[in-house]
Amino acid sequence: MELAKKVGLEYGKIANSELANFEIGITMEFVPPGFFNFRLSDFALAYQLERAAQGEHLFFAKTAQPRTVVVDFSSPNVAKPMHVGHIRSTILGDSLTRLLRLLGHRVVTDNHIGDWGTQFGMLLVGWKTMLDRAALDRDAIGELERIYRAINAQCDATKPTYNAATHEAARAELVKLQQGDPENLTLWREMIRLSQIQFDAIYGRLGVKFDHALGESFYNPRLPAIVAELMVKGIARESEAAKCVFSVGTLPPKEDPFLIQRDGEWQANPQLIQKRDGGYNYATTDLATIAHRLETWQPQEIVYVTDGRQQLHFQQLFATFRRWHPELTDQVKLAHVWFGSILGDDGKPLKTRTGENVKLADLLNEAEERAFKVVSEKNAALPEAERREIARVIGLGAVKYADLLPNRQSDYVFSWDKILALNGNTAPYLQYAYARIQSIFRKGEIPKAAVGGATVEIRLTAPEEIALARHLLNFGLVLEAAVEDYRPNFICTYLFELASHFSRFFENCPVLKAEAADRTSRLALCDLTARVLAQGLDVLGIETVPSM
Ligand code: ARG
Repeated sequence: MELAKKVGLEYGKIANSELANFEIGITMEFVPPGFFNFRLSDFALAYQLERAAQGEHLFFAKTAQPRTVVVDFSSPNVAKPMHVGHIRSTILGDSLTRLLRLLGHRVVTDNHIGDWGTQFGMLLVGWKTMLDRAALDRDAIGELERIYRAINAQCDATKPTYNAATHEAARAELVKLQQGDPENLTLWREMIRLSQIQFDAIYGRLGVKFDHALGESFYNPRLPAIVAELMVKGIARESEAAKCVFSVGTLPPKEDPFLIQRDGEWQANPQLIQKRDGGYNYATTDLATIAHRLETWQPQEIVYVTDGRQQLHFQQLFATFRRWHPELTDQVKLAHVWFGSILGDDGKPLKTRTGENVKLADLLNEAEERAFKVVSEKNAALPEAERREIARVIGLGAVKYADLLPNRQSDYVFSWDKILALNGNTAPYLQYAYARIQSIFRKGEIPKAAVGGATVEIRLTAPEEIALARHLLNFGLVLEAAVEDYRPNFICTYLFELASHFSRFFENCPVLKAEAADRTSRLALCDLTARVLAQGLDVLGIETVPSM
């Protein structure tokens, strides 16, 4: 009706005008008072499937407007083990990266490693006074964590373990490091190097790569000038000897990240950019980071993947940045893609039986171990190396999928039985659906080439065939919706439904036993389903195996 007004036509007539020029196979009918029904003919459906079988597309198209997107994800902290909290950032960030790239965007991934801050004062004291070399060689991060904990306990004035002398020593070591003391710099670099080795081992297992890993320390040289500029421009001001950014009062209080409600009253909630002692904050580094990224890669979009507790930080950061660089406001989209926690059976954040944070490496080991048991029960005859490889793919896939399936903003309860189940909305179920299709081809001794090429004719007659074909056609829409909202879970839901459509099709439509023309058409449907499954899983960072 809007359109009719614009072009000055009675809307009933649009149906017959040149506006109704549609691709072959789509019919349109006008239904008064103002509806149009579009009908996709089975012929058009088959035509698209044939083109896909011939390798022209896989139901999605690359974007006509490629963007440069920086994805900031994973970002663990040096000398601390990566825990399950970092797993969601790593897995989500990697999946978003794969998705953006698949759709033709230029992506720059950057791991914003926490390699600077007050913890290094304590780590330096620990290193110099209580380091166990043998333990460091065995498990560097474990040992660094041990000395950090021990010294940290002595620096916390609220604890009985408090030791004023240690506290003072940590402060002094930190100042020395900040002033460029050669010994402390060397030790600091060594801690980063050792941590990086362990991070890289995890990334290798997860199949995650970064274009850059510019840690927080990289931005140190820029920080004084940024604070000075924000002061001169009046964006920041001094408060209790610290430098902070305050509300400018242009937003309703509820939407203003620089205000907070306490006892029914709106109070200032400033963003700290320089501490009283002259040290800089997480936010200062992040301001420098945005500036660097804009200068270096000219992105249209910067995406940060962290847990939900950092929402305020990013709201303030984005607001301060916009005040600092109003001229760039329309040029770059800043997005905080946040996620909830992983919970244990007790509904509390996932912990080990002894109450420790679950380490990522342990979680992945357990996933592979459990998958190995299942695989060995089902395929006792396979050589062990093969069973191990299948278990690796299934175990890692299960963990990744469990993380990507829920709406990212909700917490989810982690359960081994649920994520490894072969029936249910799990990675193993989808991997199994893929392997089952491969086995059809093996069983029929059919080369894949037989269902591609210019000659393949798709015949859609059974309702299950049509339903499967329609669902295949939606793949591109789902990829676009997922990238638009930064929600890979849309893809999980889509793939699960695809596997279910396939099951119904396979139960109701004979494939290998069908007569020749139907057989080729149905084999082509099988192959297309398998290819979409594999492509969809690949976007989620999940591998497939030809048999399970
Ligand atoms: N290192 C931080 C943490 O572990 C995450 C950093 C996220 N990225 C950023 N640019 N602030 O919580």
